[in-house]
Amino acid sequence: MNTGRNITLAVMLMLMFGCAPVLGPKGETAYQVAKGRRVVNFNRDWKFAKGENKTAERMKFNDSKWEAVRLPHDWAISGPFNEKENGYAGKLPWSRVGWYRKTFTLDEADSDRRVYFDFDGVMAFPKVYVNGQLAGEWDYGYTSFRVDATPYVKLGQTNVIAVMVDTRKHGTRWYPGAGIYRKVTMTICEPIHIAHWGTFITTPEVSDDSATVRVRSTIENHLDTESEVSVEVVILDPDDREVVTGDKSDTIPADSSHVVDQSFIVPAPQRWDITSPKLYTAKSIIHMDSKIVDTETSTFGFRTFKFTANDGFHLNGRRVQLYGVNLHHDHGPLGAAFYTRAMERQLEIMRDMGVNAIRTSHNPSAPELLDLCDRMGFVVWDECFDKWDDKADRIDGKPLLEEYGEKQLRNFVMRDRNHACVVVWSIGNEINNQPRDREGKSPERVKFMSDFVRKYDPTRPVGIACHIPQTANQPILDALDLTGWNYARRYSIYRERYPDKPIIYSESASTLSTRGFYKLPFPARKTDYAQQQHQVCSYDLNAAAWSDIPDVEFQLMENDSFVAGEFVWTGFDYLGEPTPFAQQARSSYFGIVDLCGIPKDRFYLYRSYWRPDETTVHILPHWNWPERVGKNVPVFVYTNGDSAELFLNGKSLGRRTKGVQPERPVNFAEGKSATANSFQSENSVGNANDGDRSTRWCAAAAGADQWWQVDLGEVQPVGYLAIEFEREEKNYGYEIKASNDALNWQTIVTKSTSRRPRWGGPRRVFHEVDAQARFLRIEFTELREGTWASIREFGVYPEKVESDYYTVTYKYRLRFNDVVYEPGELKAIAYKDGKEIGQAIMRTAGEPAAIRLISDRKELAATGEDLCYILVEVVDGKGTLCPLADNLIRFKVQGPAEIAGVGNGNPMSYEPFQANYRKLFYGKAMLILRTKEGQLGKVRVTAESDSLSAAKITVQCRR
Ligand code: GAL
Repeated sequence: MNTGRNITLAVMLMLMFGCAPVLGPKGETAYQVAKGRRVVNFNRDWKFAKGENKTAERMKFNDSKWEAVRLPHDWAISGPFNEKENGYAGKLPWSRVGWYRKTFTLDEADSDRRVYFDFDGVMAFPKVYVNGQLAGEWDYGYTSFRVDATPYVKLGQTNVIAVMVDTRKHGTRWYPGAGIYRKVTMTICEPIHIAHWGTFITTPEVSDDSATVRVRSTIENHLDTESEVSVEVVILDPDDREVVTGDKSDTIPADSSHVVDQSFIVPAPQRWDITSPKLYTAKSIIHMDSKIVDTETSTFGFRTFKFTANDGFHLNGRRVQLYGVNLHHDHGPLGAAFYTRAMERQLEIMRDMGVNAIRTSHNPSAPELLDLCDRMGFVVWDECFDKWDDKADRIDGKPLLEEYGEKQLRNFVMRDRNHACVVVWSIGNEINNQPRDREGKSPERVKFMSDFVRKYDPTRPVGIACHIPQTANQPILDALDLTGWNYARRYSIYRERYPDKPIIYSESASTLSTRGFYKLPFPARKTDYAQQQHQVCSYDLNAAAWSDIPDVEFQLMENDSFVAGEFVWTGFDYLGEPTPFAQQARSSYFGIVDLCGIPKDRFYLYRSYWRPDETTVHILPHWNWPERVGKNVPVFVYTNGDSAELFLNGKSLGRRTKGVQPERPVNFAEGKSATANSFQSENSVGNANDGDRSTRWCAAAAGADQWWQVDLGEVQPVGYLAIEFEREEKNYGYEIKASNDALNWQTIVTKSTSRRPRWGGPRRVFHEVDAQARFLRIEFTELREGTWASIREFGVYPEKVESDYYTVTYKYRLRFNDVVYEPGELKAIAYKDGKEIGQAIMRTAGEPAAIRLISDRKELAATGEDLCYILVEVVDGKGTLCPLADNLIRFKVQGPAEIAGVGNGNPMSYEPFQANYRKLFYGKAMLILRTKEGQLGKVRVTAESDSLSAAKITVQCRR
């Protein structure tokens, strides 16, 4: 895995602005001291207190007892967890009021200048007071906003900024975080300056020979006289060489703003691409009276792209399959607090797996995410809202969506529109339709929301992520350029109705697993979870009721090449939404990697498919099964190879090849004589055992009083029944009876209806039975509303047979289902086109003996915002990872760094994320360090645990 470059927030900004961070007035770190403008890092030396406070905005308020904090700050991540609460928002105390205060001084020399505060994200409903007066407020926790503090600041004196944050009315379906969770900057500029997000760069024509770059600069004039300015633009190539320059003079009316529009030709442009993300820079310099009054640098890229209806996504003239992931905004143990390094690491891990596309589900991200995607080469589905109700911070339908939508979409689009990586604007996710949902979609609402986006950026397609297939039967989606569809090929109606519009699979999979946890026998159906442990088996055979395992989606994308590609739900586990243990757990099971970024097995399945040319050979499960000696423990190998041979203690267990399925036992019922008490002529009796799952038997009348029966021809051993109904199996209550003479019947199965799972659910049901029978009969006893007695396929087997839902797995994984466990060494040798490409070894570990620490980096930047991730493991005396270890590890950190968080990827853990100890979860845990601003030197980390040898590691903090 890449360890990546050490790019911290400050360094990122340095790259953006083209100058080093320096100390600004009164020791603040200034990101940019360009002529006419200072951008000051405003993250440090805040005071914070929870609770309502009637006078905390006042200048003289005594905050000496408040907690000293540094931004980004998420007050809820330190807990405590409320175990009794439902897990939808992480069981953390995010819903309350909090206050932040900070003092600062401004130079007399700044008189006549403008002073702005730029907030990248505050959860939620912030009110910003400057010197006791309300200077601004904002009403969406995820969008960035600016507060003009000019009228309220005092020069040459102490000033106080106080921010009240109130999350109580924020609606959410996951953990939102709480507080000033992204960076804040103070910008001081001349009265004539480039407006906030006032540089708009587009590339209307791009060819190999030349490209046009259009730079529109919105200039604000805060003087009461009109002013003549000249806007000089310098375009620099990816190596910072000047390629073209120009300028234009214009008059900016008094107390107003004006757009200066210029175009330039760049010869032989180097393309921005996911394989080689070349970025250009536009430096805008504003001259007035032969003085420079403002300077701004913006990066952009030359690329062409289009989403097509029939051939997916094209980038720079070639089809690119989107291998995407959805990412929520939290960073596990750090909560919502945004650190550029945490994000960069997420992207590095995703990149290693083969990801080339990110969906910012379901809200505007921190701006640095887009900087990183620009620089690292990911395309981005940039999304503004989940719903349009209180989850968009619209309480009781106010403000009206039209007014609110424009305001939020404006900030969202204006902030992000210069990014080469952004290829779709999304106006929302899974919004129900009106009138079913008062705040839902209608043709009119979709139109004005997408038009707001186009008003601020007419160059990119506008879409939405949908979940109700029938939406496509109404004209609701007409105004959109494309649509995303979530799960289960729900785009099929849309595809028929809108054959000319592109489709993206905006959410796929929602596969579920817990890192390191395996339960045997493994699940018979995707929704069979380990109810007792509240964990999900990591054989990657479980998904949510409405969704699928990765292989199903791989196959679907291969079949439907008109779709641009998939965005897996989700790349990382996140806080909240712990399906299927919504009540018990506090973080998700959806992630391909766990909450700390430790890969689950699935990571290697995606990697082997998405990076066919990179060697992946991964064995699962672990090989410590003392209670299963002599019993079956299936082994899967995930590899980019086409086959692999498996050895247990040196003995070959055979070779498996992708695409070869094991033989299935004969279905005794197939093609045999069947009867029923009624049937519809088009859905006749024999359709339920014709071996074709697309046909069905259906009773002629509604109601439960119906039966269907098969004559197997002779008495057979009946060990397993596999029945596929027309609808989800939860809708059917029935008895299955067995007989040798069709006169004397014995009930072998009784099943009732159920309301679970709440959404969707499988149509197949399996029953293990022990009978000898010639006749089998299913009698319906209860049917849920709207369900008729109807069967697609009734399968009768002598022994357990795997659901054919899993047949597709043989195409993408190498499955050794019949391995009999004995301790020792498992070895897989993988082949591609007949040649060995690599090996993997999994050994039985002995008793835990020692701690092992592995840090992601050795050198950190002493910015106060740089992070180091240290993987903590326990190994036996020979250095083999102990996959079941759950030792409590205690950490000591000496030197210029502190603990930013600890975690272990267990969705059921209620241990605090901010602590100097952590229990291992299946052998692993994560320690996250944060540097201290300006403090250099060696950081010594010690990890100790009772009865284990301690481990030590050092990292260096540099300037
Ligand atoms: C989708 C939804 C996501 C997440 C996911 C879990 O329907 O858009 O936000 O809830 O389900 O599978």
